[in-house]
Amino acid sequence: MRTRRRVPITNTMIDPFGRHISYLRVSVTDRCDFRCVYCMAEDMSFLPKSEVLTLEELDRLCSAFVRLGVRKLRLTGGEPLVRRNILSLFRALGRHLESGALDELTLTTNGSQLARYAGELKAAGVRRVNVSLDTLDPAKFTAITRWGKLDKVLEGLDAAKRAGLQVRINAVALRGVNDDEFDRLVAWCGEQGFDLVFIEVMPMGEVGADARLDQYLPLSMVRAQLQRRWTLDETDYRTGGPARYYVVRETGRRLGMITPLTHNFCESCNRVRLTCTGTLFMCLGQEDAADLRAPLRLSESDEPLDQAIGAAIARKPKGHDFVIDRRHHRPAVRRPMSVTGG
Ligand code: 5AD
Ligand code: SF4
Repeated sequence: MRTRRRVPITNTMIDPFGRHISYLRVSVTDRCDFRCVYCMAEDMSFLPKSEVLTLEELDRLCSAFVRLGVRKLRLTGGEPLVRRNILSLFRALGRHLESGALDELTLTTNGSQLARYAGELKAAGVRRVNVSLDTLDPAKFTAITRWGKLDKVLEGLDAAKRAGLQVRINAVALRGVNDDEFDRLVAWCGEQGFDLVFIEVMPMGEVGADARLDQYLPLSMVRAQLQRRWTLDETDYRTGGPARYYVVRETGRRLGMITPLTHNFCESCNRVRLTCTGTLFMCLGQEDAADLRAPLRLSESDEPLDQAIGAAIARKPKGHDFVIDRRHHRPAVRRPMSVTGG
């Protein structure tokens, strides 16, 4: 019989509610080449570059989490692919896939740079990408993203397919904006071989006006609408994220729903989020955070960093309390998604 090497038993990555933290999402930049109406104000101000961790520091931070037990890494933003030389970070992190320490390295992107990077991402070890796409109508696409061009994203999606990346489309359900397109999105994703996930608008960040109140559309209504045309079979397929999945019988593709407002998915939360300045958020819907940049820079040894990570996980809150605040017209969380990463 083979004897296994004893690994020191540590509870660093188990939170007070017994949840194993195995998933780290990292916003590698708060910048983006789009200005989606539900995410950013048009005159968004960004962090000075001096505050942002270098790619080497991000690698060291992510690698510490992997050493402590994280099995899945997702790079997000902002738009991760607008950060200069970002492929070097993907390549560096790819070594943890090769060693078997990491199960998955992935990203969430708006697709604008995928035409250029799909092949290199695949070569770095990425297997799946989440691409945000709320509409297939070019005019609407520009209305939602303000600065985006649908053609560029469709080109990027083609490149992803050719490179052999599995694609999941994320569509935010927006009342009065894309609510006439849900059937079309399901059919199109079926043709393309993409999974599709609908997301409810979350009250994050100051986006100007109180647009979000008008845009909010509960996914129970989306599902009811879709069930008129499609047969949605329940499945227990999970990716480690908060989406609940069905299989669309007619297309054979998965359809997911992320419902932060109508359904509380916190009980099984396995993830924490790191910003590009080294701030760790233990919950997407709470303000409490831990600074990891100071312990990172304090010493070449990872000891202070490991301690800070352990202390942060030990105060991961039980859950969020998102509500769209109708009285005060205020977001539940002031920072936009582009800071913490979706
Ligand atoms: N509510 C819901 N989804 C959002 N996204 C960005 N901001 C919000 C918000 N306020 C989405 C993006 C992307 C994913 C990472 O999060 O469209 O698909
Ligand atoms: Fe950029 Fe994504 Fe925010 Fe749109 S939702 S502005 S693509 S970060």
